[in-house]
This record gives sequence, structure tokens and C-alpha cells, in this order.
Amino acid sequence: MARMSLRQQAARALRGVAWRIERPPRGARRQAAPPPDVGALASTDSAPGSRTASWFFEQFPRFYMTSSTHPTTARLNLRYEAIFGENRDVFAGASVLDLASHDGRWSLAALANGARSVTGIEARPDLVKAAAENLGEYGYGADRARFITGDVHEVLSTQDFEADVVLCLGFLYHTLRYNELLAGIRRTNAGYLIIDTFSPHMMGPAPNVNVITEDADEEGKAAADAYTHGPSVLVGRPNLAAIRTMLGAYGYRVERLSDWAGLLRDNPGTDNCGDYANGRRITARCVSANAARPAVT
Ligand SMILES: C[S@@+](CC[C@H](N)C(=O)[O-])C[C@H]1O[C@@H](n2cnc3c(N)ncnc32)[C@H](O)[C@@H]1O
Repeated sequence: MARMSLRQQAARALRGVAWRIERPPRGARRQAAPPPDVGALASTDSAPGSRTASWFFEQFPRFYMTSSTHPTTARLNLRYEAIFGENRDVFAGASVLDLASHDGRWSLAALANGARSVTGIEARPDLVKAAAENLGEYGYGADRARFITGDVHEVLSTQDFEADVVLCLGFLYHTLRYNELLAGIRRTNAGYLIIDTFSPHMMGPAPNVNVITEDADEEGKAAADAYTHGPSVLVGRPNLAAIRTMLGAYGYRVERLSDWAGLLRDNPGTDNCGDYANGRRITARCVSANAARPAVT
């Protein structure tokens, strides 16, 4: 198992306490004031009351404990609604590839929404172990869920995957290797790609990528890969226009963005979602231009 830094150990020790403090009492969830910056989101046409959260992860509380990366109740459960609640139709019977699968939170959600099987790829061995344990604990064995330890780009380029749906959640801003990533996703023949990503200048009209470095020592950040020099990893944050351009180059397009405005409207008092509320983070359902799978020759 990879050794945890002191900071990671401290975060892990504290998070069990933290999620309990953060979680509002059951009755309070729908009565607290909405986040002040909700208005910055594009308007929604969903009916008020139609986007009330199901609090999916209350059935699977291990996921509040096995990650240090935003495992807070509100954020995890609203992300569930944006990623799965609005896209249930694509998961029935699907084989799913979960990139940067972390502790298996979204792999489990895919299976619970009818996926036939899930393969997760995750660089950090301790998270792969946690994912296998979490899924096993909730009744999904290796026949339904398998997890591969490795760099996403490396694994995609060296192994063959067939998938109906690819999940790229919380990962697009931890890489600059877009051609490798998208070529790998393209090779899976997936009809759908769900992207959940942070992006600065989200509403800007011109494609741009904000280039930064991340500390490879932090659990939720980019993992060191074959190109890493020193302790930091070079990564980019593409805006929506850049994401559209990149997807187009590989035969995908954004079909729709999840209704975060409606989610935040109907679930007031949910903190830790400011990036979604102010439009700096999105959940996008993307579809392959040739959704029909080519015949196997
Ligand atoms: C922000 S977390 C997102 C976790 C989860 N997918 C989610 O959306 O909640 C980023 C994850 O990407 C993993 N990761 C970072 N760089 C990676 C790489 N090159 N290959 C595989 N996993 C990587 C991290 O270990 C971490 O689990």
C-alpha cells in the first residue's frame, strides 16, 4: 500500500468527524437559505421541486469515510443527482469504464443504476484497495466490478476496453494529455461519455486551457506519471469551449449540461457546491457522433 503523507493521515483521521459536522439535520435540508451565488448559473427550465435529491449515498455511508476528496454529504449526493439522476437511461445493462475511479463511489453508483459491469482505473493503490473493499461490502464482487491500478493514459493505451459509457469525473483538470486520454476513450467505442469537471472562464466563447501545476502528494490531485519532473504535475483546466473542440476532434459532442441550478434551487442549505453554483464546474453528458457500435471484424 502506498504510504500516506502526514497531511493525508491527518485529513483521514478528521474526515469522519467532519462529515458529521457538515451534514445538516434531516429536516433542515430543504429549509435553509439557498447559496447566494446560485443566481450566477444559467437559468433552468425544470419545475421547482422536481430536482429534490434522493440522498443516494445515505445507503452507502462508507463513501463518506474512505476518501479525503470532497466526501461531504451534500456535495457527494448532489453530484450523484447531476451525474446519475439525469442520465439513468444510459446505464441500464451498460458496461462502464470509470476513469480515476477513486474509492469506487461512482462505480458503485453505476452498478446501482443498472450497469452490467464496471472497470475502474485509478493511480493510487490505497484508493484501488478501498474501492474493491467498498464495492465488496455492498455486494458487488469482482465479476461486476474490477479496479486497475495505474495511470489512466498508460492503462488506456496498453489495454483494450469495450465500454458503453465512460465516466470522466473529476479528472479532466488533472491532466494535459488530452490526445492520449481522448484517443483512449474513443477506442472503447463508448456511445456516452459523462464528464464532470472544474473549468475557469466557463462561459468564455474562445477555447482556452488554463495551465497550472499540482502537488502529486495530495490524494485528490494529479498522480505522478511518466512525464512528471519533481514533485508537481503539469495539468490544464480546459473551458467548455475547449472541451467541445477536443471532443469534436474525437467524434463526441456535448449533448447537455446537468441542471445544477435546479438542483441547488430544490436542495437549499447544501454547502460545498459553490463551484457548481457559480458555473465554474459542470456536469456534461456527451454522446458519440456514431453512437452505433461498428461491427466487429
Ligand atoms: C478529484 S479526484 C476525483 C475522484 C472521482 N472520480 C470523483 O469525481 O469524485 C481525482 C482522482 O484522480 C486520480 N488520478 C489523478 N491522476 C491520475 C492518473 N494519471 N491516472 C489515474 N488516476 C489519477 C486521483 O488519485 C483521484 O482519485
